[in-house]
Amino acid sequence: MEKKIVLTGIKPTGSPHLGNYLGAIKPALSLAQDERYQALYFIADYHALTAIKEPEYFRHVCYEVAATWLALGLDPDKVIFYRQSDIPEIFELTWILACLTPKGLMNRAHAYKAAIAQNLASGISDVDSGINMGLYNYPVLMAADILLFQSDVVPVGKDQIQHIEITNDIAQGFNHTYGKVFILPRYLTREEETASLPGLDGRKMSKSYDNTIPLFVSSEKLRKLVFRIKTDSSLPTEPKNPATSPLFHIYKEFASPEQVETMQNRYYNGISWADAKQELFEILNVFLEKPRQLYNQLMTDQQKMDTLLNEGARRARSLATPFMEKIRKAIGHT
Ligand code: TRP
Repeated sequence: MEKKIVLTGIKPTGSPHLGNYLGAIKPALSLAQDERYQALYFIADYHALTAIKEPEYFRHVCYEVAATWLALGLDPDKVIFYRQSDIPEIFELTWILACLTPKGLMNRAHAYKAAIAQNLASGISDVDSGINMGLYNYPVLMAADILLFQSDVVPVGKDQIQHIEITNDIAQGFNHTYGKVFILPRYLTREEETASLPGLDGRKMSKSYDNTIPLFVSSEKLRKLVFRIKTDSSLPTEPKNPATSPLFHIYKEFASPEQVETMQNRYYNGISWADAKQELFEILNVFLEKPRQLYNQLMTDQQKMDTLLNEGARRARSLATPFMEKIRKAIGHT
């Protein structure tokens, strides 16, 4: 039986954190182990261009995501791991799809609507102020990413569901006009996402709240951050409720079931917050030690990452080129 294609894009946005690991990286890596699937994971570097305009920073964040996924266990022999910008067929397909995409469909995209709403809220009379065509076309580029590789399953965060729905609309429009060429992908979101990881201040861990624990800080810095996690004012020996403690919430994601049970009892019996923090730091540090080393090594050896990503692009293109030929034929290209 042919393997099904599971594909996802990773937009480089700077310093990946513990929440990114649990929410996106870990589940994607475990899906890649599933023998029924061929995984294609790529760095959506040109998607990031809608927001990033500094070349040095752009280069840096692109390597940063590549190093992150490799350090956390992505096996480049198994997963086809590539840069979006290395696949010219994606951009050719983007144009073809754009010519079939009703403009009104893009007007309804959440990210564009949010940008307009923000302008309105700030009293800016030109609602499109500061909005570039890259942002507007973002969903079409994403549809090309997905459809070019005949993806069956696309693991994404909940905020991306609309983009997969738009991809389906665009694919159906193409198939209706030119005959059945594209298969319709489905999205895969993770249930646990609703119970997302708390950050330093107890709110959801997110770059926009500036409350994250980055994955690859030094162990000293990691300890400092863990000790900054907000706790209540209960006394050291007072019993504590693990269910409401952000410290415990993070702890249980990285500990074994036995460790979780032991720690739970220590909370009930009264553990000091300092001890709870030290235990959390230790379990995180053990987990992150090897990936941190690997990450730092990779970041000083960008050539190695280039070699891996170039090989990934070669494999990806060997899938994309024949299919692109089929698409060209379908539209009447001679
Ligand atoms: N838009 C996605 C995000 O911001 C990244 C992305 C780009 C993507 N292309 C994709 C995800 C294709 C899945 C499939 O997270």
